[in-house]
Amino acid sequence: MDKTMETAPNTVVYHLEASEFGWDIAPGKTVPAWGFNRQVPGPVLKAKKGDTLVVRVKNNLLEPTIVHWHGIRLPAVMDGTGDVQAPIQPGEEFEYRFVVPDAGTFWYHSHANEAVQIERGLYGALIVEDAADPVFDRERVMVLDDMKLTGDNTFTQPGWIVERWVESHMGREGNTMLLNGLEAQALDLPAGHTERWRFINASSARYVLLSLGGHPFQMIGTDGGLLETPRTLTEFLLSPGERIDVAAGPFAEGETFSIESRPFLGSHGSKKNLEIYASVQVGPAQPSRAFLPEKLNAITALAPQDAPATRRIEFSLGLSLKKGADFLINGHRHGLDQPVMVGALQVWEIRNRTRMHHPFHLHGFFFQVLELNGQAPEFLAWKDTFNIPPSGTLKIAWMPDNRPGMWMYHCHVLEHHATGMMASFEVIDGSEPSEKAHSDRVGHCH
Ligand code: C2O
Ligand code: CU
Ligand code: CU
Repeated sequence: MDKTMETAPNTVVYHLEASEFGWDIAPGKTVPAWGFNRQVPGPVLKAKKGDTLVVRVKNNLLEPTIVHWHGIRLPAVMDGTGDVQAPIQPGEEFEYRFVVPDAGTFWYHSHANEAVQIERGLYGALIVEDAADPVFDRERVMVLDDMKLTGDNTFTQPGWIVERWVESHMGREGNTMLLNGLEAQALDLPAGHTERWRFINASSARYVLLSLGGHPFQMIGTDGGLLETPRTLTEFLLSPGERIDVAAGPFAEGETFSIESRPFLGSHGSKKNLEIYASVQVGPAQPSRAFLPEKLNAITALAPQDAPATRRIEFSLGLSLKKGADFLINGHRHGLDQPVMVGALQVWEIRNRTRMHHPFHLHGFFFQVLELNGQAPEFLAWKDTFNIPPSGTLKIAWMPDNRPGMWMYHCHVLEHHATGMMASFEVIDGSEPSEKAHSDRVGHCH
């Protein structure tokens, strides 16, 4: 077969059905999940870079839903938010169709009533492969989540005012850690093997200080694909929505360790405990064919560290008697920010005026971090989600390519997003007059 035939773009078609069903997170432990195709997470969707992905979503829930393709640089109308499409009503179907232009670890999730729908399981991985990807002995997708369950394995309803306040304020952290929808999984791999593990943090609010029992691992990729070179780490703080691809191994026969979140200090200095997602057992050695090149990718810097900010954004907190706390962007809940022009480099300075962590997420475009608290990062990476620590300031650069329409950015702690920490903005193609009625919404707050 000639090379061009092998790599010619294809159309890949998937069907997803959102519904409610009993899901066994452990033997005899069934939760009333909402998910895609009666599984949590939903099926791993796979395509090759450049393919057209067609996903027909049928909504068999009792409430509307929308599916968002987190990290994919797709046309605005396919982004799966309330800004660009009508929600899919119960019994209805919607067809998403877009090209996947970048290789990497992405995910899809509900973008309607997220704090309930994602919490209950409406999410899954979307993997885009590239013929030039490094070779591993095996690849695994590892979707991390936590569910907040009662003693009888149902989802807690935030009942009284204090709990409601805590959840809307700190985000909903669960008591049940899940890896790919299962509690306390036992994994194994042969000694001598090196595997690619693609981690996705699908939690509503939980930060994961990811560790492989303290073993060093190589970070090879993040939200927008491969890094330029592998980086050796022993832990990585993975915020909600964020991804990290690691090369795990080789390990020695007989070793055991956990895939875990190590203790750290969270928002307001709260102590986060060790949490275990799965145990790993290293079996007898097998020959390896893995090869990790020194040079994985080339990333061109978008702007120098001292590039002047073109926009300043503030994340802050307001009080609300009804919901406990209102999370605000530029003083507004679910506001509308100024438009940006196609081709005009964006340098945004986002200031966190709270004592909490907030994972900043930009839809549809990758950004590069220029500075966090005045420090340039040690390496270049394409990001769509990046944590802003308490009182921190994040400076990013991104380029609006020619995909005009409505987009948004928000905190990926779902309760913060729900109570207002998001803003929409329009990308305008300067060569054509804009028809969008954004003037109706500028400065308008709900
Ligand atoms: Cu995963 Cu609006 O985001
Ligand atoms: Cu997104
Ligand atoms: Cu937040």
